[in-house]
Amino acid sequence: MDKNKIKEQVEIIRQAFGYIHRFKDETFVIKIDSALISNNLFPVLIKDLALLHSMGIKIILVPGAKTRINEVLKAYQVECPVVNGIRVSPPEAIPFIKMAAFDVSNNVMTMLAEHETSAIIGNWVKARGIGVRNGVDFQNSGVVANLQTDILHKVLDEDLVPIFPNIGWSAKGKPYNLSSNELAFTLSVQMKAAKLFFINEKGGIKASGFKIPDEAYISEDGTISQLTANQAARFLELNQDGEYDEDEQRTLVSYAYRACRAGVRRVHIIDGRTEGMLLQEIFSSRGLGTMIYSNQHENIRPMTTADIPGVLSLMQPKIQEGALVERTTNDLAENIRDYAVYEVDGTLHACGALHVFSEENTGEIAAIVVDEIFASRGIGRKMMSYLIERAAKMKLDSVFVLTTQTADWFAELGFVISGVDELPKTKRDKYNRSRNSLILKYAISHERGNNELEEE
Ligand SMILES: CC(C)(COP(=O)(O)OP(=O)(O)OC[C@H]1O[C@@H](n2cnc3c(N)ncnc32)[C@H](O)[C@@H]1OP(=O)(O)O)[C@@H](O)C(=O)NCCC(=O)NCCS
Repeated sequence: MDKNKIKEQVEIIRQAFGYIHRFKDETFVIKIDSALISNNLFPVLIKDLALLHSMGIKIILVPGAKTRINEVLKAYQVECPVVNGIRVSPPEAIPFIKMAAFDVSNNVMTMLAEHETSAIIGNWVKARGIGVRNGVDFQNSGVVANLQTDILHKVLDEDLVPIFPNIGWSAKGKPYNLSSNELAFTLSVQMKAAKLFFINEKGGIKASGFKIPDEAYISEDGTISQLTANQAARFLELNQDGEYDEDEQRTLVSYAYRACRAGVRRVHIIDGRTEGMLLQEIFSSRGLGTMIYSNQHENIRPMTTADIPGVLSLMQPKIQEGALVERTTNDLAENIRDYAVYEVDGTLHACGALHVFSEENTGEIAAIVVDEIFASRGIGRKMMSYLIERAAKMKLDSVFVLTTQTADWFAELGFVISGVDELPKTKRDKYNRSRNSLILKYAISHERGNNELEEE
């Protein structure tokens, strides 16, 4: 094998190790389009799911059944018109729809068994009818009313993979035909999933045909590579439809946006016909689909002159503890553009700065302070992630910190010990040897904004 290939593979393994500990015990909700089931690569996808499960990730599966339902309805000559993207499900069609939905789930369960992964299909979904809309009675087509999350947590704790056919029941046991996408969305929110996947046979959202928000990241093949939740909201605004949404891609963005707003960290829309797509999306910074993610930097903004007194008083206790070098109003005013603050309802909780050394294409992250009252809530990490993202946008190669008491914290975030010799010249000349600060460095990834810190 040539050296470059080996290097590439080793890099992938390194990245994977980095992600594994991060996702252990996290919940992933995975919706798989039924059209993929007949694809040659479907067994490989199931094998990858089994692998994720064996690594301690809690997997919840929602196999879509649209294609199978269409086949069964056709075979039994049952008419179920689709109105505005929603299937009308008359009571006489429900036995066929149930049969198809459970058949798909059973297939998936059987395939998981081949990889020694125990799964369970259950009736944990309470549903209610869509009812009559614009004069159309949707009959036994329903929406999710509630989920029995307590039972689901027990199922996951038992190391089982719960599988959800797209069927729900009313309190009186009346069955409803549900949208698998909606079901997956609700599961991700109620089970506080770290990730929600929509695996389909179209891949990520294609930019062509849509109005695209500014700053959306489009890959070379025209796929919208990533959107923050705010950009997703803008995308939905720009591409508004009627009350019902027939465009599945737009619908997926809508579910993704709502999931992010409700606390799901990332939603991935990916192509199930490409081998290894799921693993690539999770374990490397080179995901190929569309990723929609919640913006953890919402409370962070650049510092203004009016913030300076507040920032100085935030710093004061840490200066007294010797964790921070003293700064004056002038120091802050002169470098005002370097500083950022974390503010909630008009109160400053934290600050931080990125000082750029253009010649060496590096930056110093400094003055990271979180108000003691708000410690251990992830604010420090968010500030670091914001400043690293700022450095990435400036195309810096690395950032470094000088610290006397916080080296372990920076190491946890992926910083590695560096030396005085590696500092930019102007910084090296000013290095205070009596303070003897440790120097730590962080190499910035320029792949799809996927720096280590982004995901908690
Ligand atoms: C370090 C600091 C920024 C962390 O802020 P934070 O918002 O509490 O950080 P997070 O919530 O992201 O992380 C909290 C975790 O880091 C740990 N931590 C905090 N300070 C630490 C330190 N000095 N060394 C090692 N770990 C530390 C906490 O124990 C906590 O661990 P837990 O999650 O297991 O409970 C904050 O404690 C601070 O302002 N320190 C003083 C200033 C400083 O040293 N700045 C760095 C020099 S630029």
